[in-house]
Amino acid sequence: MTKWKIPLYKVFVDKDDIRAISKVITRGMDWAIGPEIELFEKLLANYVGVDYCLAFNSGTSALHASLLAAEIRNGDKILLPSFTFIATANCALMVGATPKFVDIEEETCGLDPHLVSSNVDRKTRCILPVHYAGLPCKIKEIAEVSKQNKIWLIEDAAESLGARIGKKMTGTFGEMSIFSFAGNKIVTTGEGGAVATNSKSLFDKLKLLRSHGRVDKQNYFSSITKPDYVTIGYNWRMSSITAALAISQLEKIEKLINLRRKNARYLNSRLSKLKNVKVPLEMQGCRHVYQMYSILLPNSDFRNKLMTFLSTKGIMSKVFFDPVHLTTFYKNIGYAKNSKLPVTESISQRTLTLPMYPGLKKEELDYICESVKEFLEQE
Ligand SMILES: Cc1ncc(COP(=O)(O)O)c(C=O)c1O
Repeated sequence: MTKWKIPLYKVFVDKDDIRAISKVITRGMDWAIGPEIELFEKLLANYVGVDYCLAFNSGTSALHASLLAAEIRNGDKILLPSFTFIATANCALMVGATPKFVDIEEETCGLDPHLVSSNVDRKTRCILPVHYAGLPCKIKEIAEVSKQNKIWLIEDAAESLGARIGKKMTGTFGEMSIFSFAGNKIVTTGEGGAVATNSKSLFDKLKLLRSHGRVDKQNYFSSITKPDYVTIGYNWRMSSITAALAISQLEKIEKLINLRRKNARYLNSRLSKLKNVKVPLEMQGCRHVYQMYSILLPNSDFRNKLMTFLSTKGIMSKVFFDPVHLTTFYKNIGYAKNSKLPVTESISQRTLTLPMYPGLKKEELDYICESVKEFLEQE
């Protein structure tokens, strides 16, 4: 493990997290399918503002399950961004559908609603927008396109738990949405995910998909009731230990978001004064949760040199994201040739994600700003 003076992210851990996990471990029972899972699901649904949440072992499995629950399959087209983590597109392929990359707009780095609309065709069955870095994309306009065309809207809100437009949270605009609790997310359990929905029938379907297609009338591990299996399913369950940690993290989510926002405000105030640096601002009426803090620079050469310079200072920075359509796998299946995504490619070449986490200290924020400034002065 490289020792960075300032890593890209650090998890906020307190005594409550340790207590919550210890309680499950020491009882020596129900490490799987324990009461923490349903409790976490209820608390998450309440926080997000939906009727149902279902916990998964990753954001990827939550997304895979959502597409299966929507019965999206072979021959169906899904409109999604290439400026995202690769799992967004991979899940489309996992269910046999065809990902169709649509370009983003610079303001939010999310899907451009006009392009979403013009890309809908006979085969399009789903729009899968991403709220990049915790900033809501133009989801209201995208929801309108999905409504007009009667196609699914499934939000990839992996990065944006707690982000909202007005009072409405990301993850509540479509039929389903997914969140990730991977190591660098707003609420983290190391690995984990969830689906949110207002539909009881989707919730029931997702439950079967998550656990072997099994109808669990009673706890599988602690009852003698004979289970029945009514469809194909996976093992995508979250463990009770993970759910206990998820509850403890969720209880302090507003504190975690406020610390991130305070740190981002400070970085914005200092970095926005520098020539050639564009800072990540939130749109009017939106709450950005700064799961990541990404700046835009004039070009890729400049960006790469800054990344190297920062690493000599012990500051980790990274590119989130290189476009999915330009990865070897997607190139090999023809996406580099067949995708016209000028804004995606331009932003990917110019973006750089700087350290962002709740526990960043003022001296560390100053050190980051001064290091960026020092680089700019010598350029
Ligand atoms: C936009 C996006 N979608 C999907 C995922 C997948 O989530 P996970 O890593 O929990 O499987 C992530 C996170 O890594 C993500 O950032």
